[in-house]
Amino acid sequence: MIRLKPLMLAAAVGLSAFSAAASSYAAGQVEVLHWWTSGGEAKSVAELKKLLEKEGYTWKDFAVAGGGGDSAMTVLKSRAVSGNPPTAAQIKGPEIQEWAELGFLTNLDDVADKNNWDKLLPKVVADGMKYEGHYVAVPVNVHRVNWMWGNPEVMKKAGVETMPTNWDEFFADADKIKAAGFIPLAHGGQDWQDATTFEAVALSVGGPEFFRKAFVDLDDDALGGETMVKTLKTFKRLRDYIDPDAAGRDWNLATAMVINGKAAFQIMGDWAKGEFLNAGKVAGKDFLCAAVPGTANAYTYNIDSFAMFKVKNKDDKAAQDALARIIMEPTFQKVFNLNKGSIPVRPDIDMADFDACAHKSMEDFQADAKAGTLLPSMAHGMAASSYVKGAIYDVVTNFFNDADMTAEEAAERLVKAVDAAG
Ligand code: GAL
Repeated sequence: MIRLKPLMLAAAVGLSAFSAAASSYAAGQVEVLHWWTSGGEAKSVAELKKLLEKEGYTWKDFAVAGGGGDSAMTVLKSRAVSGNPPTAAQIKGPEIQEWAELGFLTNLDDVADKNNWDKLLPKVVADGMKYEGHYVAVPVNVHRVNWMWGNPEVMKKAGVETMPTNWDEFFADADKIKAAGFIPLAHGGQDWQDATTFEAVALSVGGPEFFRKAFVDLDDDALGGETMVKTLKTFKRLRDYIDPDAAGRDWNLATAMVINGKAAFQIMGDWAKGEFLNAGKVAGKDFLCAAVPGTANAYTYNIDSFAMFKVKNKDDKAAQDALARIIMEPTFQKVFNLNKGSIPVRPDIDMADFDACAHKSMEDFQADAKAGTLLPSMAHGMAASSYVKGAIYDVVTNFFNDADMTAEEAAERLVKAVDAAG
């Protein structure tokens, strides 16, 4: 009997250690707010859910449809105000600091230290995840925004051999495509999609310095000057090349028009690639990717990230920490980004399985970081506050949809709107 005692004790200790581990692993739940509901997006986020569940945690999906995430942010605000925020929410750019400043976000330094985030992440990315020097969010990926997608078959039928590299080429190609009976530019008439196109035109017309002055420094001369007027004029010319049903169309339906051979081109970040891939299409063969005309020497970035909210329950906190850890691990970084169209946020991830568009994105990201031409996307909330972003959206969309508003008037409105919001 006596000799059995230590064994029994060991078993008891083992058991209690096991049940402690089991409870902290099994009981924790994360509720995750995101807007990844298109085919390619849903497939990508399902990978995160799978990896979390594999560790025994529970994933409660809180998906709010709407590309660009504005509807998701509205829902998030109402949940937070009523004292019931989710555990994790897809929040990007300076909005991370806006939420942190309000006291909603939790400190992730422990997970970050244990897993070496400071060493693994480019400094510009790490800084964006912190508030007053502490991690409050975890980065998922890097999307390039200034892409144009093309259907090579449609281009060929219209006698267009290569992707246009400047606006003169684009407009000449677009005329040929129209004459051949296709839609030159697939577009969804929603404010964030208008802004995505507009900022790409601004980058090509004015160059990286102009882009920075206008959308990062919010400089009045850049926002209201001649270069902006020229940008707005070029932007509005695109209206002649989109179809009459564009109003309100979701971005993935615009991508589907390129996939199905109805339209030749789409200007959209590389989440569009997720749709091509989800439809079984192959980069370089079934679809082409190229920088938006005139923007090959710059890179507008959009970094998806999850901000973590304060949670009271210990098990849920463990689940939240696990989610943060998993997002930065190589397994997730690889499988998620292969599906999503983006590139891993960690430069050390093996890119062998990624396609030519992803390789180009990774090479350009690094080259543009060195050259100082890596630019935060205004349209995707990377450049300025959510208020400024909203103010620019309003002017850009009104101008694009109002045949009577001149570019000069729109530029003036832009200055006023940004000043009022800033
Ligand atoms: C962006 C987001 C991307 C993408 C897109 C369309 O703002 O960063 O991940 O999914 O919206 O929903």
